Amino acid sequence: MNTRIMAPTPEALSFAGALIRSARLVAFPTETVYGLGASALDDTGVARIFAAKGRPADNPLIVHVASPDDARFLVEWTKEAGRAAGHFWPGPLTLVLPARNGRGTIAVRQPDHPVAEALLRLAKRPIAAPSANASGRPSPTEASHVEADLGGIIPLILDGGPTGFGVESTVLDLASSRPTILRPGGVTPVMLGEAGIPAVVERTVVEGASPRAPGMKYRHYRPNVPVVTLVAAGRHAGATLSRWALEITSHGVRPAVLAFDRDAAGAWPSVIFSSVEEMARELFRLMRTFEHDADVILVEAPEPEGIGLAVVNRLEKASSVLLAEDDPLPEEVWRVRRSGA
Ligand code: TXA
Ligand code: MG
Repeated sequence: MNTRIMAPTPEALSFAGALIRSARLVAFPTETVYGLGASALDDTGVARIFAAKGRPADNPLIVHVASPDDARFLVEWTKEAGRAAGHFWPGPLTLVLPARNGRGTIAVRQPDHPVAEALLRLAKRPIAAPSANASGRPSPTEASHVEADLGGIIPLILDGGPTGFGVESTVLDLASSRPTILRPGGVTPVMLGEAGIPAVVERTVVEGASPRAPGMKYRHYRPNVPVVTLVAAGRHAGATLSRWALEITSHGVRPAVLAFDRDAAGAWPSVIFSSVEEMARELFRLMRTFEHDADVILVEAPEPEGIGLAVVNRLEKASSVLLAEDDPLPEEVWRVRRSGA
């Protein structure tokens, strides 16, 4: 299949709307990451999403809507849902609510992006859309990332430039006894608390237990080279990362470093961030860049608060190993080249 990449002109958008109405797939930008959309009302379209991504069949999709009113057709709209949507829609907050058809729950969200908004309006129906990466790969924050993973497989990518947040929406479960964050994202626990929706954060998946966001049990966000993340880094983060980078280099393996501490820069490709928002925005793109230019990606994790919570969550899933400052670098890090491909 020939994949067209089009700027979101009125013509391209009306073509995209027609594709969605005929159960075809369209990749489009949102304020978080690019989504791979199909009509949520059409089983054929939804099945095409799973096939294109190679997504496990039991991992459900987020349904994107043009307004809270459109969500009410799909889910039982509770008082809390109204409050959450009133504060954060359109925006990076997905609400898990009981399905009106009585079949379990549905995750709904109204995206805050002019292209997504126009597509929803022109398609005239809710759009089911996961992130537009091949299953297991870093989420796409630019049209070229979608092309790299899904080129030749889908008919259209709407190119709206780089996305804003860079990490996916917060998934908030409002269908269980207390509001629970199943996936941290752009809307933080503090923001929810301030809006009168105190939520608990579901931390880790207990081995053997059935996770409530099915996406939690899969390997995610992995580039084709190992990611090694330094967690709970103290004041010596840069020195630690430099030590690791030198050790790796001495084995003839090429490191790249993503960090906040300037001391992490050296004779290797490095990106030093000045804020956690910047790291969130750039993380997936840099994973895709450095899987070509390096053999191992070394990352300094941010503090797990605010949007840092979302970044740490993605790093935990993307990493081959999480290390503290005093941990030795495991041999696999420089032995295993291009693992996770
Ligand atoms: O920012 C985003 O949310 C992006 C853009 C495209 O909107 N979408 C996205 O979709 O990240 P995806 O499919 O990559 O992640 C959806 C997450 C998964 O962890 C999935 O398990 C969870 O939402 N989810 C979907 N439906 C659910 C449901 N009914 N109950 C619990 N979790 C659900
Ligand atoms: Mg995803």
